Amino acid sequence: MQNKVLILDFGSQVTQLIARRVRELNIYCEIHPYNSKKFDVNDFQAVILSGSPYSVRNEDAPHPDLSNVKGKKPLLGICYGAQYLVHFFGGKVGASNSREYGRANLSYLDHSNELFDGISEGTQVWMSHSDTIMELPDNYKVIASTNDIDNAAYKVEGEETYAIQFHPEVYHTTDGTRLLENFLVHISGLKQDWTPDAFVETTVAHLKETIGDEKVVLGLSGGVDSTVAAVLLDKAIGKNLYCIFVNNGLLRKHEFERVLDQYEHMGLNVKGVDASERFLDKLKGIVEPEAKRKAIGGTFIEVFDDEAHLIEDVTFLGQGTIYPDVIESVSVHGGPSATIKSHHNVGGLPDFMKLKIVEPLRMIFKDEVRRVGRSLGIDDELLGRHPFPGPGLGIRILGDITAEKVTLLQEVDHIFIEGLKRWGLYDSVWQAGAMLLPVNSVGVMGDERTYERVVALRAVYSTDGMTADWVDLPYKFLQETSNKIINGVKGVNRVVYDISSKPPATIEWE
Ligand code: XMP
Repeated sequence: MQNKVLILDFGSQVTQLIARRVRELNIYCEIHPYNSKKFDVNDFQAVILSGSPYSVRNEDAPHPDLSNVKGKKPLLGICYGAQYLVHFFGGKVGASNSREYGRANLSYLDHSNELFDGISEGTQVWMSHSDTIMELPDNYKVIASTNDIDNAAYKVEGEETYAIQFHPEVYHTTDGTRLLENFLVHISGLKQDWTPDAFVETTVAHLKETIGDEKVVLGLSGGVDSTVAAVLLDKAIGKNLYCIFVNNGLLRKHEFERVLDQYEHMGLNVKGVDASERFLDKLKGIVEPEAKRKAIGGTFIEVFDDEAHLIEDVTFLGQGTIYPDVIESVSVHGGPSATIKSHHNVGGLPDFMKLKIVEPLRMIFKDEVRRVGRSLGIDDELLGRHPFPGPGLGIRILGDITAEKVTLLQEVDHIFIEGLKRWGLYDSVWQAGAMLLPVNSVGVMGDERTYERVVALRAVYSTDGMTADWVDLPYKFLQETSNKIINGVKGVNRVVYDISSKPPATIEWE
């Protein structure tokens, strides 16, 4: 039995948040679909059952066999998890007729219960369910209620089985992290030793063992994930790591030279490949966004493959894949979801590159990647970079792409990003950039009529890019930026600011 937690996923939208909270406590956990065969419950010290969009009363709802968990290991049921433990062990769950969404306050029936250690009675919790627990099985004991629900939390007597109908993982449950800590540390006896330093140490040792004297090739993008993956690999195998940083001609102004320089200073074995012309050639005349993405992605693979073939006897491909890309999701609606944009590069290995894959970050979240990066001594400036899409400015130039348009947009983007930094706004914004619109507008400069391009600025707050809201940048900042762009970039006579949230808009315009 190891010092780690299993989160059994029943398809809730917020299961990943449970894992984030557990990791914040410096405890390692893994999420697995309730019906997966890819894990062994005996490898885990405690188990958490997630929420779910299903009702336990539906026949097609998740009904896993918990016989080797319940009563054998510390177990915490959350929402659906709590209802499931009642429904299948002799209690009653029914449709709720009172309000069970949103805020509620806990009243304790067992004041000395360890689950509530250090949490004052009346603490705010967040409810979100349409079913409710009506009757508990015989050996279950209610430990907390709210105004609207009797069985807000219970414990099974003689077992370390606890359950709560509210969500400790969401922000609005004030003491949610403390409750999880009580369950995991005090009740289950887990140690809080999952720190960035410990991660670095075990990962480097594991990489050394897996790779031995073989060679790894890795594509660096200038982003946080590939950089941290490279530094970990570098620590493990040094010069047997061959990094390739490709200039696709669609990067930000001076980005290729600047980032290549940073990589060299970090001591990475890196080769910069300027393939700008090859990309621009392939993109000539292409207008449709998905066709542009395919052309850029396809050309990248060609360039990368050409370079990889120059390295003798390379056997591994390193990738910066992170945990959200590999967590298998429980399919709630049956089929796969619709393709909105074909961005996600998971599994992007072409068949003809028969390399083994090594992914040092595949079990950690983005915020953990940054913490690991910090513990590896990577520059804060690099770790705090905004995300930037793989196809780069290619999907911010609406319509066809030419070298002139790229240069123009690079200038606009540069003024905007440098302005955000100067005004101290860069770090609070999640992502920002400029779009070149395929529209000319009439303007006047001096006594001359102009008929020039329109650019749109976009800055968003987000946590994972899945949803986003536009940033209310100060008017004075927008005014200064717009003046600088119109006066400084030839060919632009109008600047607009994008005030659309995602959904319904997306972050990038293409
Ligand atoms: P959207 O535009 O879908 O973008 O709201 C969400 C996040 O994904 C990035 N993005 C991409 N990243 N290849 C990438 O590597 C792509 O084709 C791509 N398209 C969008 C976008 O910048 C944002 O962070």
